[in-house]
Amino acid sequence: MTDAVPPRLPRIAVLGAGHTGPVITRVALAAGYAVSVAASGDPQRIALITQVLAPGAEPRWAAEAVADADVVVLAIPLHRFAALDPDLLAGKLVVDTMNYWPPVDGVQELFEDRGYGSSEIVQRRLARSTVVKTLNHIGYHELEAERRPAGAPDRRALGVAGDDPEAVRTVAEFIERIGYDAVRLASLAAGRLLEPGGPVFGASLRRAEFERALASTP
Ligand SMILES: NC(=O)c1ccc[n+]([C@@H]2O[C@H](COP(=O)([O-])OP(=O)(O)OC[C@H]3O[C@@H](n4cnc5c(N)ncnc54)[C@H](OP(=O)(O)O)[C@@H]3O)[C@@H](O)[C@H]2O)c1
Repeated sequence: MTDAVPPRLPRIAVLGAGHTGPVITRVALAAGYAVSVAASGDPQRIALITQVLAPGAEPRWAAEAVADADVVVLAIPLHRFAALDPDLLAGKLVVDTMNYWPPVDGVQELFEDRGYGSSEIVQRRLARSTVVKTLNHIGYHELEAERRPAGAPDRRALGVAGDDPEAVRTVAEFIERIGYDAVRLASLAAGRLLEPGGPVFGASLRRAEFERALASTP
């Protein structure tokens, strides 16, 4: 009899070492994922932050972190997105945690077309990547404290929106493993419901409440 080898968890690269990136890194590490973290430049500049805020994560150059990652988490300000080279992320599953905040980001022409959600615009630009939207609608300061084990009555729900079922499955499993109920939305376009001003943005809701809030929004 041979013991089945448990499937390896996806390797994660978090781009962004500001407020949000290190917290995502920390909860991913706690859930058993191998995580690299990168900012826009030399990893030595984030070595201390990483050591203090996300011990166990490897600070790397972005290109190197992305190269051997299965999942790349974009935790950079949206106004920096236009300068990100799409080739860097070609072929990767990209988790988009970004929000468009004109007061912070300034007016970004790329994201001014209100006919589309910001992640649809991200996907259009990252044409050779597979984009899944999640984690944008929970505050970075809540992400650690609100985790609960599966089945806990007060476990918070987070939405996962994408067009590729396999990518959505991988990201939903990530959300479940870090401590949240994953609610799948029908498409990346439906992910607009997760955006600022939408019915679940910043709201701490259980799965049933979350699904009701989505369903009651035209
Ligand atoms: N605030 C929240 O609670 C919250 C929650 C969910 C999602 N978000 C979203 O998370 C994103 C980041 O917000 P934040 O407050 O964490 O930003 P922040 O504190 O300003 O941090 C920005 C980080 O992004 C890095 N960065 C910029 N361009 C990069 C690139 N091309 N490659 C790699 N790293 C790059 C910066 O590195 P350098 O220092 O080297 O430039 C810096 O480490 C935003 O889009 C925001 O909407 C925020």
